[in-house]
Amino acid sequence: MERTFIMIKPDGVQRGLIGEVIARFERKGFTLVGMKLMAVSRELAEKHYDVHKDKPFFGGLVEFITSSPVVAMVWEGENVVASGRTLIGATNPISSAPGTIRGDFGITIGRNLIHGSDAVETAQREIALWFTEPELASWTPANHGWLYED
Ligand code: GTP
Ligand code: MG
Repeated sequence: MERTFIMIKPDGVQRGLIGEVIARFERKGFTLVGMKLMAVSRELAEKHYDVHKDKPFFGGLVEFITSSPVVAMVWEGENVVASGRTLIGATNPISSAPGTIRGDFGITIGRNLIHGSDAVETAQREIALWFTEPELASWTPANHGWLYED
């Protein structure tokens, strides 16, 4: 089953939105297989956002992600990478659709509450970067047959 890496950024934690974010992924039917609240080292933040290292906002982004704890999570489910991005909404919250996490709770691009992997390969890289294998639990929720046809 597909997995994605989701991170509640420092603004989401500070604003008391951890439960709100988790509830939305749970209600959708996705399965939580790993979660930890943690302070992020500069090294980890730079590796995570390596693809943006030449962008003008890179320095500020690393400062922000390391400024206060984040909640790192791995969620599992059919098409969870793309569907997770849909739940999260467009990058800039001022134009994210209402009903999405960023659309409902955010205003500005540098404080957009949450990260979600943008492709299956990216998810695999990010999960390996943030979690060790023993930190991830493989389990099948009891309601599986009520979420999926197979
Ligand atoms: P993530 O899930 O966090 O990776 O967001 P994304 O995939 O929707 O956007 P992208 O990967 O392009 O950018 C990564 C993060 O950098 C965004 O979530 C923003 O927090 C930040 N960012 C992107 N573009 C800008 C920008 O123009 N200005 C500022 N201040 N931050 C930006
Ligand atoms: Mg991204």
